[in-house]
Amino acid sequence: MSILAIDAGTTGVTALVVDEAGSVVAKGYQEFAQHFPQAGWVEHAPEEIWQATLEAVRAVLGRVDASQLRGVGITNQRETVVLWDRETLGSPRRAIVWQDRRTAAICDRLRADGHEARVAELTGLRLDPYFSGTKLVWLKENEPHTWALVESGRYAVGTVDSYLIARMTRGTWHVTDVSNASRTLLFDLAAGSWSDELCGLFGVPRDALPDLVPNWGEVGSTEPSVFCDLSLPIAGIAGDQQSALFGQTCFDPGDAKCTYGTGSFILTNTGTSLERSDAGLLSTAAWRSPSGELTYALEGAIFVTGAAVQWLRDGLQIVGSAAETAAVAATVPDSDGVVFVPALTGLGAPHWDPHARGTILGITRGTTRAHVVRATLEAIAFEVRDVLETMPSDSTPLRVDGGAAANDLLCQIQADQLGRVVQRPRIVETTGLGAAFLAGLGVGVWDSTDDLRETWQLDRSFDPAADRTAADAAHALWLKAVERAKSWA
Ligand code: G3P
Repeated sequence: MSILAIDAGTTGVTALVVDEAGSVVAKGYQEFAQHFPQAGWVEHAPEEIWQATLEAVRAVLGRVDASQLRGVGITNQRETVVLWDRETLGSPRRAIVWQDRRTAAICDRLRADGHEARVAELTGLRLDPYFSGTKLVWLKENEPHTWALVESGRYAVGTVDSYLIARMTRGTWHVTDVSNASRTLLFDLAAGSWSDELCGLFGVPRDALPDLVPNWGEVGSTEPSVFCDLSLPIAGIAGDQQSALFGQTCFDPGDAKCTYGTGSFILTNTGTSLERSDAGLLSTAAWRSPSGELTYALEGAIFVTGAAVQWLRDGLQIVGSAAETAAVAATVPDSDGVVFVPALTGLGAPHWDPHARGTILGITRGTTRAHVVRATLEAIAFEVRDVLETMPSDSTPLRVDGGAAANDLLCQIQADQLGRVVQRPRIVETTGLGAAFLAGLGVGVWDSTDDLRETWQLDRSFDPAADRTAADAAHALWLKAVERAKSWA
């Protein structure tokens, strides 16, 4: 028995087939285009996400016995808003991506009008362009013809999971889960339901939003004529960071993980209690069981980490691949005073400044690409340290995952910066693994979270080895640079 997991991330879609032992037996990946129509804007074509999904799934189907598949789990980049025609399933415009900063002025306006405290109280979030709500306000104000069809009921609104489920079921299902809903600014976190008050504030018709379903349990079935000849129950859904928390088997209050993806996201399970932070962390829904029990998490969301490495590769073209960064950075003992603040789409936790922009300081005649690459890896570790310093102090090992967790040098710098052991599991594709676990629980491949816990296996532990004074001095310099990056745009 096995499960097909689809991880529709920010830069590409990964398909995994996971067997009963929790091992990944096949993997497919397809990147899709990033569209940057204006400075600070980021968009994706929904059709390209769908085609990438089909490509990634086809790639794994060539390598496994499809008759063994019992269900599909879906996980996705969160906050990104997608519109589609309920009849044709075509999208009238590109999706506005979580990284998009176009709504900074709308956030400022809502703040000036005194809405921030109430929005934070209801949602656990803040007024930042990151979240879906103000992206919908922008569509309403700037594309009224499109918005009229949202209001008339012809266009559906959703996050990427709900869009893919609509495509996989030929429009039969318009659903999402609490982990995705809790990132929209339209979800009442304590009540666990869409909020009429927030829909009113942001001007979003409640009927345009997906229905909420539990994170595991059968929803509907995929339609073989549109989905690679597969008729499988869709039985697990979660936003990618909550999915990674599940994939790392962080089932108990206090369990935490850090995923290095396009951005980096640190989540701590807070159990059934909705904890709040006044230090820049978000309160969010982790998952809801079929019996209705809602588990919460505290989250530190860092927008640009892997995306900074991607920028070194595609923008500056100073490395050929992300994997090369470890070797290039290791050619120098340190960044020689170069500090890179990768605020390429503003700053998220814990600084929260949509007007911040990237900056590189400390360049001299002796600076080489190796120093810039090393400064990039260090920046990722500094950003994660900044978030963890706002969480209740904890000396247990930090579980890391995501693509960049494969980078030994990054893991070591991270352990050095935190003064804490960093543990990497054998499977770092924890986001997709979490979706497989959810769907597997949903269809009975696994009976309980205890079964899942037994599948977690350590690959390598990284112990802090650096001199504390030197590590803290490097971090202090970083904090100085962060101040320079703020309020730029
Ligand atoms: O909140 C944004 C997050 O869901 C994106 O994740 O994996 O694409 O960096 P990722």
